[in-house]
Amino acid sequence: MTSTTAAAGTGPALQPRAREGQLDVARIKADFPVLGRQVYGRRLVFLDSAASSQRPRAVLEAMDQYYETTHANVHRGVYAIAEEATRRYEEARAKVARFIGAGSASEVVFTKNVTEAINLVAQTWGRRHLGPGDAVLLTEMEHHANLVPWLMLAEERGLELRYLPVGEDYLLDLSDLERLLDGVKLVGITLVSNVLGTINPVAQVAEAAHGAGALVLGDGAQYTPHITTRVRELGCDFFGFTGHKMLGPTGIGCLWARRELLEEMPPFLGGGEMISDVRLDGFSTNEVPWKFEAGTPPIAEAVGLGAAIDYLSAIGLDAVRAHEVALTSYALRSLADRHGDDLRIFGPADVALRGGVLSLAYKDVHAHDLSQVLDQSGVCVRAGHHCAKPLMRRLGVPATARASFYLYNDEADVDALGEALAEAGKLFF
Ligand code: ALA
Repeated sequence: MTSTTAAAGTGPALQPRAREGQLDVARIKADFPVLGRQVYGRRLVFLDSAASSQRPRAVLEAMDQYYETTHANVHRGVYAIAEEATRRYEEARAKVARFIGAGSASEVVFTKNVTEAINLVAQTWGRRHLGPGDAVLLTEMEHHANLVPWLMLAEERGLELRYLPVGEDYLLDLSDLERLLDGVKLVGITLVSNVLGTINPVAQVAEAAHGAGALVLGDGAQYTPHITTRVRELGCDFFGFTGHKMLGPTGIGCLWARRELLEEMPPFLGGGEMISDVRLDGFSTNEVPWKFEAGTPPIAEAVGLGAAIDYLSAIGLDAVRAHEVALTSYALRSLADRHGDDLRIFGPADVALRGGVLSLAYKDVHAHDLSQVLDQSGVCVRAGHHCAKPLMRRLGVPATARASFYLYNDEADVDALGEALAEAGKLFF
């Protein structure tokens, strides 16, 4: 059984993909089958990992191998493969706990994605603790996933929502933080903006929030795939991230919370597995984290997420971050050199303060038209409001085209983007 697990497609992936902190991108690219394909006769240049990353063979094989050899429902059967499936599901939880610096695996709840993780907090902790007279502090750069659950709760419970503004430098303006925190019970903040790439000073905000008696919920969707995550050092009380942006499958994300908070929170969804007893006149809940995992969970997806964590850990998140800083720096420089004032990039100029997300406006070409033309060159970028409409209004644009980098991108990909922008320029002007 153990040897089957060890053979879960992870062997070759654990060969060095980084030496002395430098990524071997050619070798990494070769691990991702989709990056070998062409579109319109052109090499696929995938620059949309902020929306969803690609998966290495090790992840695909781990999930296949799980389905081919092991699949059964977890926490139910007492036969061999059911116990093995349970073990593999729980092993994945332990890998997540180590990967994000959680106190224990019992603090990790599997959800569908970050959206579900935040809704879980809003609908359980929020409903229990927030009402008229209470305030939640968010930021203007939140993804809809960290806005709409609170807007829904505000409508239902009559609480007040406040927002930390975004400055002209694309950083959060913290000058009024102390006043804004007065009466706040929860601060919800993204660690990295999915539009601007801005890395927020979450530890600093958390210290002020805790001083004011508020808890902190961090949205790690764009952070955990790229930067070493230590939830406790960040000062978060709740933290969400998702598998599909970090080489794992879709359909699995995580909520981490301090254990005492999870213990105290009422359940979210009701059903099988989240109970310890059910009578016709009531029920009692299971222990954490299973109290929050009603129904059959995403088992193969957990196995896939575990394999993604193995793959990323073998390379090292510090090497991934260093690679992305260098690549973003190259992109900012080379795109500005080539396109000058024709190209506007929204986000901090200092690469130490940003992730590898470039929101672009090219001349006055609409972002959707631009992305369709880039696609003809094989370059995949996301166009639209990026589920951050309030931030778009703040920026004064309806949409941007967004290129985002990951460990499998290199300077040739950035050059392909620069070239495709030049082709768009010829087409539209
Ligand atoms: N949140 C994802 C993005 O920014 C979908 O594209």
